[in-house]
Amino acid sequence: MIKAAILGYGTVGSGVAALIDQNSAEIRRSVPEGIEVKYILDLRDFPDSPYRDRMVKDVNVILEDPEIKIICETMGGKGAAYQFSKAALEKGISVCTSNKELVAAFGPELMATAAAHHCSYLFEASVGGGIPLLRTLNTGLSQENITRVAGILNGTTNYILTKMNRDGADFDTVLRRAQELGYAERNPEADVEGHDTARKIAIITSLISGRTARYEDVPCEGITKIDRMDFACAAALHAEVKLLGLCEKDGDGRYAVITAPFLVPEESLLAPVQDVFNGVLIHGTMVDDVVLIGRGAGRDATASAVVSDVIDAARHPGETVPCPWKGGDPMPLVPVAEQKRRFLVRVPAAEAGLAAQLFGAVRPVAAESGAARPAFGENGKSQPEQKEEYAFVTPVLSEGEFAKKAGEFSSVHRIRLLDPDMV
Ligand code: HSE
Repeated sequence: MIKAAILGYGTVGSGVAALIDQNSAEIRRSVPEGIEVKYILDLRDFPDSPYRDRMVKDVNVILEDPEIKIICETMGGKGAAYQFSKAALEKGISVCTSNKELVAAFGPELMATAAAHHCSYLFEASVGGGIPLLRTLNTGLSQENITRVAGILNGTTNYILTKMNRDGADFDTVLRRAQELGYAERNPEADVEGHDTARKIAIITSLISGRTARYEDVPCEGITKIDRMDFACAAALHAEVKLLGLCEKDGDGRYAVITAPFLVPEESLLAPVQDVFNGVLIHGTMVDDVVLIGRGAGRDATASAVVSDVIDAARHPGETVPCPWKGGDPMPLVPVAEQKRRFLVRVPAAEAGLAAQLFGAVRPVAAESGAARPAFGENGKSQPEQKEEYAFVTPVLSEGEFAKKAGEFSSVHRIRLLDPDMV
């Protein structure tokens, strides 16, 4: 038996332990000697757990046991998780992680440490939950010139947007439910403010380019400002509101990356991706579009991805599983001001005339859709507190130009539109 250890018996860690037990026969198809969890590190006590005899509180018990070949780091964070991962790799123990925060911040360093010690640092579970996304990019599509990736990459926010849109549920209630279901981060700000998606699209960009895209350089906007009117405008435009991570390669080989809510046209293959599901649309110049959809968060789906890495590590003893992301200096990304797109804009109704002056041929949303403005309020009635607004879609323009023009209004609310050619 190949001996493994789990660091952190939380949502994902407990799923990893359960999966390795329950699917032992399936695992033996790829790793005939089988895989056994020898230790689980956690500072808490779990007297009722079937794994209570394997619980340890001192990481050195694991690191100093020469039988341990693979560690699953499911602790999260960049503190102890970094130290323990580094120490394990320096001993030639492969590390499989779901910790996108750590991968986005220290991925190249930890992969270099792994390579120097003939083991692997693997992170399939860090992006897209149970979707075999990184393996698809690294192997199945390794021959492709990937020019675009558009992804719904955060299960929590997709769940929240779905419930707000379909059931009219309020943000806080749905967020609490996402936490109960084990989807949200310990600090859900990372989900709802878009940081989690920004880390994931930075990891994807690094894999498809081979160079490091720093997540701190990814312009990032979350879903906390999305309101009922946005869903109504989206419906009028036959679109869905989705938090996307977007990465586009231009003709000069530069990458334009952004995380923000977008209006995704109904005909897009990403539009039907609802609830906790993630969806990723990958465009390669030869293969054209490839779409992957699956559960983006939750215990079992994420554990499945972690264990796929455990199997990969077990099949490469004493070697490093190759990864196209080579690290090096971070690459400059296309500045957000240069990125071009259309915008859905809401301004005070009294400033409707200014919209045409500033943007030229705008497309008024309610008028063209035939939806009367009161339909944007609750139960078809306009809300007394709701300011009378004028909603319109701009022509294509750069983010920089848009920001300048938007400054002319007394108040402005906007959502980006996903280019229909991209879907
Ligand atoms: N909080 C993350 C999400 C977990 O909701 O997608 C999976 O990375």
